[in-house]
Amino acid sequence: MAADQGPGSKEIHLVYASPGTAAAYRKNGRFIDGSVLVKEVFETATGSMTTGTVSHAQTLKGWFVLIKDSKNSHPGNKLWGNGWGWSWFDAANPVKTTSKDFRTDCLGCHIPAKATDWIYVSGYPELKK
Ligand code: HEC
Repeated sequence: MAADQGPGSKEIHLVYASPGTAAAYRKNGRFIDGSVLVKEVFETATGSMTTGTVSHAQTLKGWFVLIKDSKNSHPGNKLWGNGWGWSWFDAANPVKTTSKDFRTDCLGCHIPAKATDWIYVSGYPELKK
């Protein structure tokens, strides 16, 4: 993620998928139930190196986690809905989510990706056939 001011990036986001998720997606363009996506967020430090301006991961902030649940099997639970379970886990206390309601904590930002099951699939060459 680019810095608001100055060169380099503000954060580095690493996205992981549980085994088989990408292969299944390449086959039928869907995320299968139980697939887990994790977006790991680092704050960066930026400096000048012999390759140019370089940002590197500095401090781990935490993880955004999604679990595919096409049947919406947790009605009434505010961390589940629209085909996914949604939560943020802070690096300082990874055992318990600080998220309260995916509609206010997550969904607004994922609306541009609604047509692709709320996932920003264009960012991942691995998902292309
Ligand atoms: C400030 C806007 C914003 C909020 C709030 C937000 N997201 Fe995202 N999320 C994005 C964007 C944009 C991407 C893709 C680019 C990136 O990594 O920044 C993304 C990517 C992801 C990814 C990687 C898969 C993908 O779609 O690229 C996961 C997993 C994720 N978000 C989960 C969540 C969860 C769970 C919440 C709520 C706890 C949440 N997000 C809240 C904007 C947001």
